[in-house]
Amino acid sequence: MKERITDYTINSLAIVSPAAKKILKYKKSGSVLDLGTGTGRNALFLGEKGFEVTALDSVKSKLAALRKLARERMIPLKIKWANMATFKPAKQYDVVLALVSLHFLKDSQIAETIKRIKEYTRVGGLNVITVHTKKNIGKKHERAHLFKKNELKGYYRNWQILEYREVWGRSFRTKENPTQVKKHRAELLARKI
Ligand SMILES: C[S@@+](CC[C@H](N)C(=O)[O-])C[C@H]1O[C@@H](n2cnc3c(N)ncnc32)[C@H](O)[C@@H]1O
Repeated sequence: MKERITDYTINSLAIVSPAAKKILKYKKSGSVLDLGTGTGRNALFLGEKGFEVTALDSVKSKLAALRKLARERMIPLKIKWANMATFKPAKQYDVVLALVSLHFLKDSQIAETIKRIKEYTRVGGLNVITVHTKKNIGKKHERAHLFKKNELKGYYRNWQILEYREVWGRSFRTKENPTQVKKHRAELLARKI
């Protein structure tokens, strides 16, 4: 059978992360913090669905592109330039997303950052996280912190884990890497109790 390839070289914004779509199974409204939003495909999707979204990234050029897109599409997003490892929000959120972004932090920053993400989530609220795992090996995959088996899940022992899996994703290609690649990731959707 021929494998389907997701082609992010065409329009990466049109392809919303399946993990972001899953939120709609559990919540229809509320506040969302998207950590490491990039150019905001998931923030725009959730904003369009009526969530109050704060989109955060440490790269100004990505946020500038997102600001333009949000304006064009008339989606009211709050855009925040910050480092997710040190960010201290003034309030709690109903949903905190960190999709393919946490593994860019250093080993020493992971436990403390996840602890704080959990603190600034409201009781009954969700954390939705996807990270790359140690199964991604080789020079092409230099991430500061690749997660061990069950490591991500382990941080959420005192929460209700609604969905968790560790899987190889579908093949995809990007502008930076036009040859097709596949990434192994851990995906978590958990509720604060
Ligand atoms: C692979 S992209 C994922 C973007 C988006 N979450 C998505 O799913 O399309 C990772 C993003 O994390 C951001 N990032 C990496 N380290 C960060 C940090 N310490 N604080 C905030 N953003 C960070 C990068 O700038 C980049 O935009």
